[in-house]
Amino acid sequence: MSGAHCPETDLDLWSDELLRNPYDAYAALRRLGPVVWMPRYEAYAVARYDEVRAVLQDWRRFSSAKGVGLSEEMNGRSGRGILTTDPPLHDSRRRVLTPQLLPAEVSRHQAFLDRFAADLVAGLVSKRRFDAVTELAHPYSVTVVADLVGLPSEGRDRLIERASAAFNTFGPDNDLNLSSRDGFRQLFEYCTDVATPDRLTPDRWGAGIYAAGARGEIEPEACPGLMLAYAWAGMDTTVNAVSAAVSLFADHPDQWDLLRSDRSLIPAAANEVLRIEPPVQRFTRYSTTDTELGGIVIPEGSRLAVLFGAANRDESHYPEPDRFDITRNPSDHLSFGRGVHRCVGAPLALQEMYSLFDAMADRIERFTMLERTWRLNNALHGLEQAVVEVTLSDR
Ligand code: HEM
Repeated sequence: MSGAHCPETDLDLWSDELLRNPYDAYAALRRLGPVVWMPRYEAYAVARYDEVRAVLQDWRRFSSAKGVGLSEEMNGRSGRGILTTDPPLHDSRRRVLTPQLLPAEVSRHQAFLDRFAADLVAGLVSKRRFDAVTELAHPYSVTVVADLVGLPSEGRDRLIERASAAFNTFGPDNDLNLSSRDGFRQLFEYCTDVATPDRLTPDRWGAGIYAAGARGEIEPEACPGLMLAYAWAGMDTTVNAVSAAVSLFADHPDQWDLLRSDRSLIPAAANEVLRIEPPVQRFTRYSTTDTELGGIVIPEGSRLAVLFGAANRDESHYPEPDRFDITRNPSDHLSFGRGVHRCVGAPLALQEMYSLFDAMADRIERFTMLERTWRLNNALHGLEQAVVEVTLSDR
C-alpha cells in the first residue's frame, strides 16, 4: 500500500492554552493535511470534516474496543461500558438504552422539561445576575437526567465533577489525567455502590438496565457500566452545550433577537450552538489494519485523535465556519458523533436545549456577559463560569 507523505505537527493539543482555545490550532491542522502525525503523542490527528466522518462511520477499520482515549494505560482499563466496545457486543448493550431515548419516547417528557426549564429560568431572572454554568446548566442537566434515570438523591451533587474527571482520563498521561483518576473511580463506585437496583426509582431508565440484565439481554456485570453511560455521558456534555448557548447569545444579540422573533428557529439554533462549540471535542480510535485515510497510509495498531471540534469548523464543509448563524441549520454537524456510537442521548439533549431556549426566550431580552472563564478538560470544551446579567422581556 503506498500513500502520500504524512505531515507532522509539534502543536500540543493537550496544552492548557490549546485546551482553552483549540480553534486556531484546529485550522492549522486542517491546512496541513487530512491526517497529521503528532510525534509528541505517537498518534495521528484527524481534523477535516470528511475524514472525521469517515473514521466514525467505519468501526471495522477504526475500532473503539481498545479505548477511545489517548492514554494507553487508561485505554487498557476500558471495556466496562458501551463507548469502548465494537459490534456485536456494542449492539447488545446499546439495544438496552435505545428504546427510552428514541425521539418519540423523549417527547413524552417534553411537558416535564418545559415546566422545569420555565421554573428554573423564572428563579434566575428574578435575581437578574446569575452564573449560567453553576446556577443554570448544572441543576438543569443533572436533575433532568437523574430524574429520568431514577437515580437516588445521594451523590447527585458530585456527578458533574466526577463526570468531568472521567472525561479527563481520555487525554494523554498529563497532570489533568493523573489527577482525575480518583474522580473517575468514584463515579464508577457511585454506579456500583450507590445507584444500586434497590435504590433506583422503579420503572425509570436505570431500573430498565437491571431488568434487561435479569432477562439475560446483557451480562449482569455490564449493568453498572451502562449506568455509568448515563451518569457520565449524559450530564457534563449537556452542561457545556447549555452554557455555551448562553455565552454565544450574549456575544451575538442579533441572533438572540432572531430566535425570539421566530421560535421555529430553535432547533436550528441548537444545531448551530453544537456545531460551533461541540461539548465533546476529541475522542480516539485504533486502526485494526493497515489502511488509507485521505490518501495517507495508516499502519495497523495506530491511535487516531478524532477532532469533532475541528471537523465542525471545516471551511470546505461550512462556509465562514467561525460565524455563529442560527439560520444555517447544520444538522449534519459531528458533535453527536456518527456511525454505531452516534450519541444515543441526542434526542434528549436536543429537547433539553429546545425547552430551555424557549423558556429563556419568554423571559429574557438580553444577556450581558460579566465574567467568563473556560475550564480545562482533556476531552471536553466548556465554560467554568459564565456570569451574566439579563434584561427582562416586557412581553
Ligand atoms: C449536548 C449533549 C451531548 C453531546 C454533545 C454528546 C456527545 C456524544 C458523542 C460525540 C458521542 C459519540 C462517542 C464516540 O463516537 O465515541 C456520544 C455517545 C454517547 N452519548 Fe452522548 N452527548 C450528549 C448528551 C447525551 C445524553 C443526554 C445522554 C444520555 C442521557 C448521552 C449518552 C450517550 C451514550 C450512552 C453514548 C454512547 C453511545 C454508544 O457508544 O453507542 N449523551 N455522545
